Amino acid sequence: MKHERLLDPLHGAEDAVVGLGTWKSAPGQVKQAVLAALDCGYRHIDCAAAYGNEQEVGGALSLRVGSGKALRREDVFVTSKLWNTKHDPEDVEEACRTSLAHLGLLPGPVPHALAHGLPAGEGADASEGRWKYFYSDTHYRDTWAAMESLVDEGLVKAIGLSNFNARQMDDIISTARHAPVVNQVPSGSYVNDHLPPPLTVTEHTHLLLRSVAVCLTAYSPLGSGDRPWAAPDDRSLLTDPRLAAIARDIRKHRPRIQQNMQVLDFSLSEDDMKLLESFNCNQRLIVPAVERDGKRVWRDAEHPHFPFNDPY
Ligand SMILES: NC(=O)c1ccc[n+]([C@@H]2O[C@H](COP(=O)([O-])OP(=O)(O)OC[C@H]3O[C@@H](n4cnc5c(N)ncnc54)[C@H](OP(=O)(O)O)[C@@H]3O)[C@@H](O)[C@H]2O)c1
Repeated sequence: MKHERLLDPLHGAEDAVVGLGTWKSAPGQVKQAVLAALDCGYRHIDCAAAYGNEQEVGGALSLRVGSGKALRREDVFVTSKLWNTKHDPEDVEEACRTSLAHLGLLPGPVPHALAHGLPAGEGADASEGRWKYFYSDTHYRDTWAAMESLVDEGLVKAIGLSNFNARQMDDIISTARHAPVVNQVPSGSYVNDHLPPPLTVTEHTHLLLRSVAVCLTAYSPLGSGDRPWAAPDDRSLLTDPRLAAIARDIRKHRPRIQQNMQVLDFSLSEDDMKLLESFNCNQRLIVPAVERDGKRVWRDAEHPHFPFNDPY
């Protein structure tokens, strides 16, 4: 996870530039991961109700953060996300309080809440041998208004978006009382689907966010190789030999979490950057996909608020 350094409009939170993601972090492991991250300097922990492990993350935070502990609450940038089944304005506050309680962060107001973005609501129905998804008509503008009340009440310090495209973000900003402070979007070498030259989508998104003073958080920068919906023939960034060739020059020998914190102490040559840009294959692999009529399609593409039908 990486914040764009220049744009944290909140606290000048330089230390929060690199974050620890907690998705798919298994029970019994995520606590150790968060402790290791805090101990080696991470100040941004990215959580979500949907990851099912906020209580364990809270266990780690309680050992390191707060009165008499190594870190003050205001030093740590904790993000949680309102899952898609909780976007109805009636549900927003309770969902937020539940996350805060799990994270051990009540009473507030340190964490940052994000609307998770994708429009699906989950429901279990195995009758056809697969999960069925139930969709809600809640408009994201109404969800946003309910999230603004969380700031008014002092429950959260700031609110943001995740998986919103440029049009949706403009839509929010045009009516917001509290502007989004971040938009957390997938950003990596396989999703640079090119706009008319010279801008890639990633560059365009960066420029756009800069122009409206919204910070970008890049998620799945390494291609999220273990995402649950991966197809066997999907490309895999982490095993891409071209990436391995670049990495060979900057290889580090430290435990993974520590090693990733050191992403700011080296730079890539212009040639390496060009090579990385050339990985573009116009594929958004981090969007949940399913098989329909023998074709692999985005699961939620027909929802009116699905963000990835727009070019960016
Ligand atoms: N807002 C959203 O909708 C959304 C969606 C997806 C993800 N996210 C956030 O972004 C975080 C990261 O995304 P992600 O897990 O999907 O993808 P990712 O960061 O692109 O990839 C994670 C994978 O990379 C491996 N890895 C990490 N550092 C490495 C290194 N230095 N060398 C080799 N392999 C390395 C990890 O292995 P190990 O596990 O062995 O370290 C893991 O298998 C999530 O935890 C979550 O917080 C948000």
